[in-house]
Amino acid sequence: DWTPDQFVQTTVDDLKKQIGDDKVILGLSGGVDSSVAAMLIHQAIGQNLYCIFVDNGLLRKDEFESVLESYKHMGLNVKGVDAKQRFYDALNGLTDPEAKRKAIGKVFVDVFDAESHLVENAKWLAQGTIYPDVIESVSVKGPSATIKSHHNVGGLPDFMKLKVVEPLKTLFKDEVRLVGKTLHLDENILNRHPFPGPGLAIRILGDITPEKVAILQEVDHIFISNLKKSGLYNEVWQAGAMLLPVQSVGVMGDERTYERVVALRAVTSVDGMTADWAHLPYEFLADVSNEIINKVKGVNRVVYDISSKPPATIEWE
Ligand code: XMP
Repeated sequence: DWTPDQFVQTTVDDLKKQIGDDKVILGLSGGVDSSVAAMLIHQAIGQNLYCIFVDNGLLRKDEFESVLESYKHMGLNVKGVDAKQRFYDALNGLTDPEAKRKAIGKVFVDVFDAESHLVENAKWLAQGTIYPDVIESVSVKGPSATIKSHHNVGGLPDFMKLKVVEPLKTLFKDEVRLVGKTLHLDENILNRHPFPGPGLAIRILGDITPEKVAILQEVDHIFISNLKKSGLYNEVWQAGAMLLPVQSVGVMGDERTYERVVALRAVTSVDGMTADWAHLPYEFLADVSNEIINKVKGVNRVVYDISSKPPATIEWE
């Protein structure tokens, strides 16, 4: 019978043999897969594992700083790279969802490639690929794992020199979480909802500006922290907010307002392939809506997405 402890033991042994004294680079995303892959390889080869965590300016509020801190606490040899401006520049003026994904993928490759060259003698590229990624390496809307998807985006002649190591390739998500738990991975990372590689860029419909990102980060933060406070976070597969490219009329005091609309999205699912909208309590939705409208300047209306997948998708882009 498969047990996480046994998996850790045999995988760490195998990794030691496979990698020896070579250096390995790995892109961390803040998600459970890349984090668990990093922990396993770290157990096997320690400081010969070089982790790179890129701030693309499209992460959740304060996520880069807090996740980087957790990685450091875990003893990982990790470098945080602030590439926000490069991503914003590449996205400037783009509105088509696929164009946005491609632009993000390209910058990610460039940044990662440049960083990996700073690690002398790196021989391996580690990835947190899990079994469902292997079966279905390209989803309907595009590749769905972080490094791997970006890999597929542009030609990567430089990466070809690196051998690939994928310690989670045989596991399903729930097994990855069990392994992470055995390794004492930070709860906050362990039970984190899936989050798309292109981040908030595909939750801001239309063009991306730092100002819109900041608004959406506040909205998302209110939604997610209330889910956590109410004990609902672990009841849903994924949740987030979309910033819509429309304005609507509202009233505040005696003033007419004409401001942005946000849509909240929360779904239940087992694998992300199909999903149902989460039947969150009305009272909860009312509180979140009030808090968003009262606290986030520039937003005067909140709607809740009640579409299932299919025919809708989880993300709006
Ligand atoms: P959809 O929107 O297709 O999303 O129902 C299914 C799952 O995949 C995530 N997703 C992505 N992840 N790059 C990613 O790494 C992407 O381009 C991408 N598009 C969607 C989405 O968040 C959900 O978990």
